[in-house]
Order: sequence, then C-alpha cells, then structure tokens
Amino acid sequence: MKIIVAGTGFVGLTHAAVLAENGHEVHAYDIDRTKLDAYRSGDRERIESYVAEQGLVPIITETLGRYLFFTDPDGIRGEIEGTDAIFLSPPTPPNLDGSTDLSYYDKMAHFLGELLAARSDQRRVVLINKSTVPIGTARRMQGILAEHGVPNFGVASNPEFLPEGNAVEKSRRPDRVVVGADTEEDLRILRQVYPQFHNHVRISYIETTPETAEAIKYVANTLLLTYISFWNGIGARLAETFDNLSMEDLKRGVTADDRISTWGSYVSNGAGGSCFGKDIQSLIYQLRSNGQSSSLLENVFDINEYQKTYLIDRAIHEAGFDFNNTVVALMGLSFKKHTNDMRDASSLAVVEGLLAKGVREVRAYDPLAIEEAKRFFDPERNHLFSKIHYFDTAEEALQGSEAVFVTTDWEEFRGLSHVIAEHAPPPYLVIDGRRMIPDYNDLVAQGYRYLAVGSKLLTKDDIARSHAPAPTPEAAPA
Ligand SMILES: NC(=O)c1ccc[n+]([C@@H]2O[C@H](COP(=O)([O-])OP(=O)(O)OC[C@H]3O[C@@H](n4cnc5c(N)ncnc54)[C@H](O)[C@@H]3O)[C@@H](O)[C@H]2O)c1
Repeated sequence: MKIIVAGTGFVGLTHAAVLAENGHEVHAYDIDRTKLDAYRSGDRERIESYVAEQGLVPIITETLGRYLFFTDPDGIRGEIEGTDAIFLSPPTPPNLDGSTDLSYYDKMAHFLGELLAARSDQRRVVLINKSTVPIGTARRMQGILAEHGVPNFGVASNPEFLPEGNAVEKSRRPDRVVVGADTEEDLRILRQVYPQFHNHVRISYIETTPETAEAIKYVANTLLLTYISFWNGIGARLAETFDNLSMEDLKRGVTADDRISTWGSYVSNGAGGSCFGKDIQSLIYQLRSNGQSSSLLENVFDINEYQKTYLIDRAIHEAGFDFNNTVVALMGLSFKKHTNDMRDASSLAVVEGLLAKGVREVRAYDPLAIEEAKRFFDPERNHLFSKIHYFDTAEEALQGSEAVFVTTDWEEFRGLSHVIAEHAPPPYLVIDGRRMIPDYNDLVAQGYRYLAVGSKLLTKDDIARSHAPAPTPEAAPA
C-alpha cells in the first residue's frame, strides 16, 4: 500500500520504519528539515540524536530509498496521488489548564485537507490518528476535511502503545492493535495495512468505534500510572513509616497473587516520559469539562508529582543534609533506561529542586541522554543551569561530590556501590530514587548514609542494631 506518515518523532519514525519493513511504500514527512536530513543520511548517531531506539537504524538503512522515503511538506504534495492511508503523529502537548493542545494536529489536518481536496485520483483514503488525542478528535477531523471539500475519505483512530526503549520490538509484536473506524471499507483498508496482525493468534486485533479507540489509549495510560502511583503513594509510604517493614518482601508478597501485576510494583521517584503526565491531565480535563468527577486521577497525578522531588526534603529532614553550596552527583537524566528522551523526566524536577536548595554544582552522568539534556537545561533559558556539568562516566561524575541522587533505572547503576566506595568516602549520602543499589547494606555498614524510595534513612547504627542479637525474654523490659 502507499502510505504517508505525517510527523516523524518517536512514534512517527518508528511506525514509518516498521511499515516499510513490512513492504509498504512509505512516505514520511515532517516540518523539521534538520531532522529529515539526519534520517536521510542513514547515519546512526545523527538519527539517534533525535530518536534513540534499539534496532531502529538498521530498518531505516535497509528500507531507505526502496520502501521508505523522507520528505518535507512540499515534497509530500507530489506524493499524494494514489495514497491509501495517512497516519498522523504530531505532538499533542498539554495546555496550561491540562487540556490537549491540538494546534499541531489542526495545522497538519488542514494541510492534508488542502492536498487531498486537490488530488486528481479519487480513490478511498483513510486518515488515521496515531497520536494520543482527546475523545472526539476523529470526528473533529472529519469536519476539517469536509470543510476542505475532500472527496471519498474516512477517518480512523489507531492509537500507539509503544513503550520507548523497546519501541521497535513492540511495534513488530504489539500486545494489541486497536483500530476505530466508522465503515467496513475503512476497516478493510486498515486490515491491509496490518495483514501481519489481523487474525494473529496472539495479538489482539480490536476493531471498534473511533471514540472507543481514543478512550482505550487514555484509560490504559492512566490505569498504568494509577498502579505505579499506588505503589509509590501507599507501598513506599508504609515502608518509609514503619520499622521492620521490607519494601522488597511487601512487593513479593502482594504480587504473588495472579490478579496483581508485578509490572509497576517497583517504587520510584516518579514516572515520567512524554505520555503519562500529559495524558492524565487531558483525561482529567475531559472528565471535568463534561461534568464528571476526576478526583481519583487528580490524586494520582499529585502523588506522581510529589514523588519526583520528595527525596530532597527527606534528605534534609532525615539525614540533616544541607544542600546549600554542596556538589551533588546525578545518576541518570532520561526518564527511563534505554532512551535519550528527557520529556517530563524526574531528573528535570530533581535538578530544579537541587538548584533551588542552593547546590553549587550538579555533576550529571547518563549513558545516552546528555546531548538531549543540554537542550533541556539550556543556560540561556535559566542561568542556574550553568551549574550543571556533564560527564561520560559515573566515576567522573562522582568526583568531589558530597551526595549522589540516582534518578534513572539504567542497569549499570546496580553496580554503583563499588564505584561510590572507590570515589566518595563516607559519610557520603546516597539518595536512591529507583532502588537501584541492591547491596546498599554493604555501603551502610561502611558508614555511608542511604536513603531510598520505600526505605527509611539507613545509617551504620541501623545496621548495627539489625545485627544485634534479639533481647532474651528475661532481659526485655517488663
Ligand atoms: N513517545 C511515545 O512513547 C508515545 C507513545 C505512544 C503515543 N504517543 C503519542 O504520539 C504522539 C507523538 O508523540 P512523539 O513522541 O512521536 O512526538 P515527537 O514530538 O517526538 O514527534 C512529533 C513530530 O511531529 C512533527 N510535526 C509537528 N507539526 C507537524 C506538521 N504540521 N507537519 C508535519 N510534522 C509535524 C514534529 O516536528 C515532530 O518531529 C503524541 O500524541 C504522543 O502522546 C507517544
């Protein structure tokens, strides 16, 4: 099939590449010409400076010029004839009131409406929303295209569920494909787009209305964040409050139940990324503006926001740590491992929190996200960001620091206790936002102070107490 993909960010680029891998003729366009130049170059580093996803570059280089073509909006004019399907994947960021900013989407829709109205071939074309858009947006798109006088079109919703860091794998083998359309004709076109998924024995191929498809995406994302926030807001709080309460055992004991997921039961300094925060805000807005209560979701949002920086306050209150004029190492910048994506990353809130407390220098390390972080922490925008320095290894970042804050779950941080022991002598403070240091007891026994989500502050005294023999009944006070 001849397919256009409009918008080549994380979602659009991955989607275009996997469609091309499946033998479709894919014309992907974007308004960002420097991005297009990078993609067209086939150069790994240049592509990954925009979208770093395992396995993506080889698909692009193998299909480039044969099945996959990149162009700008002018170039797409010449490709509109004979198109069967157009996927729209523009950004849909939040407005200040939480509603979805549809300005990118609308511009794209009007541009495509103009092109489609002018084409000479009048074959059926389906425009498909890949971006996460409020319930009713497919209907709104129908109005825009009708305004332009586009003949013979359908609008469908096919939300994307790919997890960053594993986007290619999950695009090739998704858990489900959700397709919402109004007519059998449009559903048939989508089955031709996705022949490998339709009737698949393991992948659920769900055909429904556009509105249901739009809602599925919001409900799925907010439910995931609700589950994560339950563990952060209840599990971690319990383990931080009561003596002798082990976070690990609590998790194991609860999730041993088949009905309760282990995914999301980890506790952390907040879930970030481009989707959770904006999608929950949008769903809150959609419920409230239609007269419905959104209190559950509001609490979930608040718990997640609180989680991002509360360890800074705990370090002050529990460890008596005065951040003013100190040097703090930061382990991890991206919102999660295996990606360079900094959007809504907890590290953003942590850095701002540390700088607000008067930290003299933040020494940051991340295996993938440093270039992206520099764009976010632009000293031109806030001169305090000039206090952030970036390093290529954890060892270098730890030099001369008085505390370390682990903000991302990169696997290599599991070995951090050895690096700390070598480069930062006790009573150095370790703030573990991801519970990444399994042998934290060893550090504590050496005199380090260890503070984690889901644990009280641990010091050498705590270890000594936990190893002391239990008092005999005779010795115990009456
Ligand atoms: N990133 C994810 O993991 C993920 C997962 C599922 C769903 N989504 C949703 O997918 C959508 C896109 O997300 P993303 O992460 O790919 O965003 P992104 O910002 O990485 O990419 C959007 C792209 O659209 C381009 N663009 C903007 N206006 C355009 C126009 N008028 N014409 C052509 N191109 C235009 C931008 O230049 C950019 O390259 C959002 O709605 C998001 O919520 C994202």
